[in-house]
Parts: sequence; structure tokens; C-alpha cells
Amino acid sequence: MSSLDLSSNAEPRFSSVAEVRRDLERVGYFADDGLAGVVYLADRLGKPVLVEGPAGTGKTELAKSVAAMTGARLIRLQCYEGLDESKALYEWNYKKQLLRIQVEQGAGWEEVEENIFSEDFLLTRPLLEAISAPEPVVLLIDEVDRVEIETEALLLEVLSDYQVSIPELGTVVASQIPLVFLTSNNTRELSEALKRRCLFLHLDYPSVERERAIVLAKVPGITDQLADQVARIVRSLRALDLKKHPSISETLDWARTLVLLGIESVDEETARSTLHLLLKYRSDIELAAKELAAATSAAAEPGR
Ligand SMILES: Nc1ncnc2c1ncn2[C@@H]1O[C@H](COP(=O)(O)OP(=O)(O)OP(=O)(O)O)[C@@H](O)[C@H]1O
Ligand SMILES: [Mg+2]
Repeated sequence: MSSLDLSSNAEPRFSSVAEVRRDLERVGYFADDGLAGVVYLADRLGKPVLVEGPAGTGKTELAKSVAAMTGARLIRLQCYEGLDESKALYEWNYKKQLLRIQVEQGAGWEEVEENIFSEDFLLTRPLLEAISAPEPVVLLIDEVDRVEIETEALLLEVLSDYQVSIPELGTVVASQIPLVFLTSNNTRELSEALKRRCLFLHLDYPSVERERAIVLAKVPGITDQLADQVARIVRSLRALDLKKHPSISETLDWARTLVLLGIESVDEETARSTLHLLLKYRSDIELAAKELAAATSAAAEPGR
């Protein structure tokens, strides 16, 4: 039986939402109160967070940043189609077991069996690793929408009791509730049961102010003015009816390129010739080029 009180976390990691927000910023992650509030609650309630949203909006980075800010070890389970128990939980090291059996020829089978089903022969995968870790852990289950429904059920089981039962060894019970982040690009609906178990966080594109702050923090050598212009132009592009809107990663790529090119202020021509860094479809690039004239002149207007 689990000895953990799963209804709440006895020793909270954060004292307030504002503290979460400030600490995240300290490690270079810019959150709004909504986002910081969910992280705060996840800790208080001992619940996993399901982070959903378009590509490049900071889902994966959030888990990494929470680990960095709390000094916890980040354990990542990268999901993919075909991921199964042996890669998510644990598997036995057959090669090593076989070798041992060969070496111990002559010994009684019972003795050999006891030997080869011990921890020495166990290959721990991320979920078991997170459950059995003695130190604080942030568990990132990345792109959970890629696994089959059976594997999702397995995840749910682990996230419900924070324990793993290994028939040959017994049950491993977590000594602490890890902070868990599951991310999803929404390629398929997740089960109701999993959603019910989690706090839900939808990440969208940031406000101009937040994106400017991200650019300033992540692009060395950029000026306030250029960062502001970049954030505004990207925002205006996102208002267009595009196949794929530019993500924060693409904003950063674009800003880094502008700095490398020694550009101080973006005019229409510069924007047009670097659009391929922000947009990845030809039709999007064409549409955006048309709209750029208006966007760049508006962004350059003093006092906006
Ligand atoms: N709030 C933020 N503060 C600072 N940097 C951010 C923030 N959000 C995103 N970024 C930056 O954007 C990049 C992309 O974020 P991330 O890889 O977490 O996106 P994602 O949502 O996981 O995308 P995908 O769905 O493609 O996996 C990060 O490397 C980070 O530099
Ligand atoms: Mg990601």
C-alpha cells in the first residue's frame, strides 16, 4: 500500500504564485499569472499538469525550467508510437542474466533465479526512475499524445498511485510526489481518465510584452527597440490566416539572425528577405509579404 497522502503535498515547494513566477523568470522562463498559478497548484495538490498548445510555445521548456528553478533532477520520458512498458517502466537485462546463468552452471536453479531477478539485473526506465529517486524530481512525459491508448493507461496507473509493482521484486513506492508535466500537441484526444487526473494548462502564443521579454533574455546583443519590433511584427503575422503561425522558437531564430546581420531596425525589405525564418510554407510567406508593408510601418510608428 502507498504510504503517501496523495491528496496534497505536505511540504510545498513554493509559498505563492508570485514566487513561482519570479523564480521561473530567474531561470529565463517568462510566465503569466495563469501559468504560474497552475504550477503552484500542481505542487500544492500533488497533481500532474497536462500542458497543451501549439508547437514551440514553451511546453517542454516549462518542465525543464521548473526543474532548474527548484534544483530538482529532470527525468524525461519522450513518448513515441510503440513506446511500451519495457521502455517506460523497466525491463530485465536479458544478456546479463544469460551470462550469469552460464557462469553459474552447476548451481541450483532456485539460487540462480533469485540472483538474476535482483536489482542488479534491472534496467530502470524513466517512470520507475522517477518513482524510485530519493532526491526531488521533475518528471516530464513529453508528447504523450503519441503513445497508444494502452500505454496511456499504464501512465495513468503510475500517476494515480506513484508506485510500480515488479512481480519478481515487489512494489516500489515513491518516497515523495514528483512534479509531473505531460505535454501534448493534441494530435489525438487523450482519455477522459487521464485528463481528470491532471491539472490542465493551455499554452498559447505570448503577449507582445512577454515575447519581447523572452527575446531580450534569450538573444544576446539585441536592443530593446529591435526586440520590441520583432515581437510586434510576429504578433501581426500571427493575426493572419496562415497554415502555420510562427512559434516562439521561430521568433528567437529570426531575432538571432537579425542581430547576426547587424540589423538595428527592421524595414519592409529586411522582413521580406528573412521571412523564411518565421514561416515554413510558401503560401504563408507570400501572404505575409503582402501584409508586411502595413505591419512594418505600424511597428515603426513612434508611440504606436
Ligand atoms: N515562456 C517562455 N519563456 C522563455 N522562453 C520560452 C518561453 N516559451 C518558449 N520559449 C522558448 O521557445 C523555445 C521552444 O519552446 P519548447 O521547445 O518548450 O516548445 P514546445 O511547446 O515544447 O514545442 P513542441 O510542441 O514543438 O515540442 C524554447 O527553447 C525556449 O527557448
Ligand atoms: Mg516540446
